[in-house]
Amino acid sequence: MNGEKMKQKVNRHLKTVLQNTEGYMTFEEMELLYKCAMQSELPIVEIGAYQGRSTVVLGIGASEGKDAMVYSIDHHPSYTDGGKQFGYQDKRPLIDNLVKFELIRKVDIINIPSYGVNVCKVFPEGIGLLFIDGKHDYQSVMQDYIRFGSSVKGDILFHDFTWEGPRKVIKEFGLKVVESAGNLARTEL
Ligand SMILES: C[S@@+](CC[C@H](N)C(=O)[O-])C[C@H]1O[C@@H](n2cnc3c(N)ncnc32)[C@H](O)[C@@H]1O
Repeated sequence: MNGEKMKQKVNRHLKTVLQNTEGYMTFEEMELLYKCAMQSELPIVEIGAYQGRSTVVLGIGASEGKDAMVYSIDHHPSYTDGGKQFGYQDKRPLIDNLVKFELIRKVDIINIPSYGVNVCKVFPEGIGLLFIDGKHDYQSVMQDYIRFGSSVKGDILFHDFTWEGPRKVIKEFGLKVVESAGNLARTEL
């Protein structure tokens, strides 16, 4: 398949995901997430699945790229963030979406809080791509970055990177935004 045909196929794929899953990623953000997932050889880790829009994008990207496993961490606590309501009710749609897109084997859901994950034990070979999209307050983003960041051998992506929490973490830890799409940033140390 030539480059243009491949691009059209990916676009169709991502549009189907956008139309069939609830979530907070825009099409352009999904494109960047997909591209990064394709390139990862080591496990891909997502913090914050919600109903699985980004999770499905990571799963499709990994399947069509270097076939890394995707681990999505979300214990579905009940809270509001940025005016949106999250909770246990999001768990069923997440599973349904993974089944619908035939990703139930490619994506493992880790149903515990990010701060409960023993990162070195669970990912002894390191993490190829880390996508941080859990709670967005400074403390939560910082804890996620500190706990997982040192195991990452590739990129770290922050969603909503212009919001105060992620923005402060990126600045304080001297991360460089090397690429962005919408409110999704790809960063490097
Ligand atoms: C903004 S939503 C994620 C949106 C999703 N990435 C998408 O593209 O639609 C944030 C999610 O993070 C989860 N979450 C919040 N704190 C968490 C934590 N400490 N560990 C794991 N998941 C967490 C929430 O349950 C919620 O589903």
